[in-house]
Amino acid sequence: MKFMYDNSSQHRIPKHVAIIMDGNGRWAKKHGKLRIKGHLAGTEAVQKAVQFAIKNEIQSLTLYAFSSENWSRTDNEVSNLMEIFALFLNDEVENLNIHNVKLNIIGDISRFKPKLQNRIKHAINLTIHNTGLQLNIAANYGGRWDITNAIQLIAEKIKSGLLLPEHINEDSVNEFISLHDQPTVDLVIRTGKEYRISNFLLWQIAYSEFYFTDVLWPDFDEAVFKSAILSFNQRDRRFGNTIPDDIHE
Ligand code: IPE
Ligand code: IPE
Ligand code: MG
Repeated sequence: MKFMYDNSSQHRIPKHVAIIMDGNGRWAKKHGKLRIKGHLAGTEAVQKAVQFAIKNEIQSLTLYAFSSENWSRTDNEVSNLMEIFALFLNDEVENLNIHNVKLNIIGDISRFKPKLQNRIKHAINLTIHNTGLQLNIAANYGGRWDITNAIQLIAEKIKSGLLLPEHINEDSVNEFISLHDQPTVDLVIRTGKEYRISNFLLWQIAYSEFYFTDVLWPDFDEAVFKSAILSFNQRDRRFGNTIPDDIHE
């Protein structure tokens, strides 16, 4: 019997890690600062996470930066977050390019201001041929949006006669879902002491492992990332199958 996942090594590096970067506001409050300072400190943690991923040859890193629901925050906070995102793209894209990182944005970017959309497109184009770490930033992203978007695209394909409803299966749906061209998400990390998904990847995390930590995102560093990987290494991933030792036919 061939197993879907090689569980033999004690030091498996997950191919794809996704992170819900939560706790910037609480970090700021704890340090008597404005929320924007928490978000700015959070960008330093992003750099640490990216460096760790490069060093450890993780293939894909997906970071949740702004959810479909985050628009409900005050206008001031939303515009601060947009500004920080634009600054990050401006300041970091050259450095990412030097490190052979391929940048990708998942989410509905059509709601962003044209200037930010252009900056996003420029960053994606600059790194498009890179072959190192695939860095996905989820911006105006929602797991429900992702699935809804897929349904819309499938419906268009049916309308134009290229697909028959009876031929829809999991593979054909998957083709329209973000990240389908990358390894499946092995590990989801959430910082900030909340134990929920908050509309992050839904379809993609069917068999992911989860690691929750109380660490607030701006305090995230290599040690926290390592702890998450060590915890991941202790999991038995069965994908609905039995573990080899349990087979006593
Ligand atoms: C995560 O930190 C950043 C975004 C959601 C954009 P928060 O801003 O949610 O921080 P808390 O949860 O209020 O501490
Ligand atoms: C999730 O954090 C979204 C991001 C990290 C971008 P939130 O702070 O928005 O999640 P909730 O509101 O606590 O569920
Ligand atoms: Mg939060």
